[in-house]
Amino acid sequence: MIELVNVSLVYKNGIKALDKINLSIEKGEFIFLVGPTSSGKSSILRLIYRDIIPTEGEIYVENQEISELKNNQVPYLRRRLGIIFQDFKLLPHKNVYENVAYSLEVTGAKHYEIKRKTLRTLNLVGLSERYRLFPQELYGGEMQRTAIARALVNEPLILLADEPTGNLDPYSSWEIIKLLEKINQRGTTVIMATHDKDIVDYMKKRVIVMSGGLIIKDQIKGSYHISEVKSV
Ligand SMILES: Nc1ncnc2c1ncn2[C@@H]1O[C@H](COP(=O)(O)OP(=O)(O)O)[C@@H](O)[C@H]1O
Ligand SMILES: [Mg+2]
Repeated sequence: MIELVNVSLVYKNGIKALDKINLSIEKGEFIFLVGPTSSGKSSILRLIYRDIIPTEGEIYVENQEISELKNNQVPYLRRRLGIIFQDFKLLPHKNVYENVAYSLEVTGAKHYEIKRKTLRTLNLVGLSERYRLFPQELYGGEMQRTAIARALVNEPLILLADEPTGNLDPYSSWEIIKLLEKINQRGTTVIMATHDKDIVDYMKKRVIVMSGGLIIKDQIKGSYHISEVKSV
């Protein structure tokens, strides 16, 4: 479903963020991407989302080489991917409902379809009662659930999560991880970059460990084990 072949990434400032990465991800997997700060986790997610394109190598999403996409094809790729971040990135002047509905409005969906899908997705993330509130009126966990609803409302095949619990207290973090697990069980592939050792060790999912732009470990039912990671 996702394939990275000999992918290297050098940023404009000359920093080599990724060095000949090879990675294969199957439909329906739940993957943790771990490793110290600056090891390249966010860069991998940004590449899959085609926020940036690699300096070398190929990236396939559903057998399509995404670096070759024309700019006007990128929105269609993005609709098959959902992404969430540590800082939620909600639109402050839109309420919960409007933040989620907006993802459908930009696709030109019909009004009744926007309403049906938005309400269904808010129900999935447990925000049916809170949809009139604005981001600043929500708890952190609710902000992230709004962001998850926004990412899911287009029914993507893949959900990318860049340290989604990084700004949350432990209780909200578990709530979010349980929600991501539920979403994964419904068939969505989930790739989550995280520093949260407790969550990674508890979940017993595939764990990819990065260090200095390299994948240094890739384990089924893995654990965090950052202590073994040498800094490069
Ligand atoms: N936009 C950017 N421009 C230049 N260098 C960057 C940029 N983003 C990340 N980097 C550098 O690339 C390397 C990998 O960063 P990143 O992928 O953000 O790692 P992580 O998410 O694991 O912390 C780091 O050395 C970082 O400083
Ligand atoms: Mg990062």
